[in-house]
Amino acid sequence: MTRASAPGKIILLGEHAVVYGRPALAVPVTQVHVDVDVSDSARRGVWIHAPSVDLHEELNALPSDHAVASVIHNLFFLTRNLHSPSGRGAGGEGEFPDLEINITSSIPVAAGLGSGAAVTVALTRALSAHLNYGMHDEQVNAFAYEIEKLHHGTPSGIDNTVITYARPVYFVRNQPIETLKVIEPFTIIIGDTGVGAPTKQSVSDVRKLWEADKTKWERVFDEVGEVVQAARQKIETGDWRLLGGLMNRNHELLQEMTVSSPELDTLVSAARDAGALGAKLSGGGRGGNMIALVEKENATAVAGALISAGGRRAWATEVAATIAKPTLR
Ligand code: MEV
Repeated sequence: MTRASAPGKIILLGEHAVVYGRPALAVPVTQVHVDVDVSDSARRGVWIHAPSVDLHEELNALPSDHAVASVIHNLFFLTRNLHSPSGRGAGGEGEFPDLEINITSSIPVAAGLGSGAAVTVALTRALSAHLNYGMHDEQVNAFAYEIEKLHHGTPSGIDNTVITYARPVYFVRNQPIETLKVIEPFTIIIGDTGVGAPTKQSVSDVRKLWEADKTKWERVFDEVGEVVQAARQKIETGDWRLLGGLMNRNHELLQEMTVSSPELDTLVSAARDAGALGAKLSGGGRGGNMIALVEKENATAVAGALISAGGRRAWATEVAATIAKPTLR
């Protein structure tokens, strides 16, 4: 059996503007993750089990554009001429090995935590390793980006990047990744509105706004970029408390992009009222999760305030320089 895992992620600052070439900061969240096990099967076919989404199917029963099926088809295509010493390589065209693939995930779907990209990355790692087709992080990341493009229209690539490398990143589309140097760890509370919201929709709505008035939105995206640059500087000099005001400003700019929601705004206000240094939505928006920057000793109070304000779930994560190595066994 071959197993691989991938973490969830949060965008600290810069979502949406990052699609238009501005920088963004993102960090892995290791408390939630996707685990994929691949083993040889005694029965014919490629059997996929993903209990969290009630999926138990043979590959051919899934539409080829299904999120999981498209990873498997594309990876088989990549490895089809491979002659693996174990004989497990995907053979000629149309000839798939017999496999059992188990996918378990604790990352909520459509919540801005990168569940789709995490499934792609973990599945790519487990399947490629099982087929003896070694892939470096760069290859996994490039492959995952192609898959993201199939499903999300115009993704920036930030989700697959932070999840593949599992470390804090300063990300600019189509540029080599830069590690965000976290000088002093800090605590973020993640609050879930419980409202599912696909990123594809909000990304496409922002694009319509941009197409209708590029001058205006380029200015807004420029300001997001400035906020992100300032935030990077604070994190890299240990002044993380000063991120709070920048997060608040970023939330206002995201509201202007129409990607907040009443539920997100309620949780953002509740966090600030409970003493958070700053708060904003995180990810695609319209639902999903928000984040709040807190002093460690205030974490429980802020998480409690989010639940009292209607949040489905609230939990703390520490942003630190430590690289959470993705696992492969
Ligand atoms: C989603 O996590 C981040 C967005 O900026 C989309 C993207 O960058 O692809 C909303």
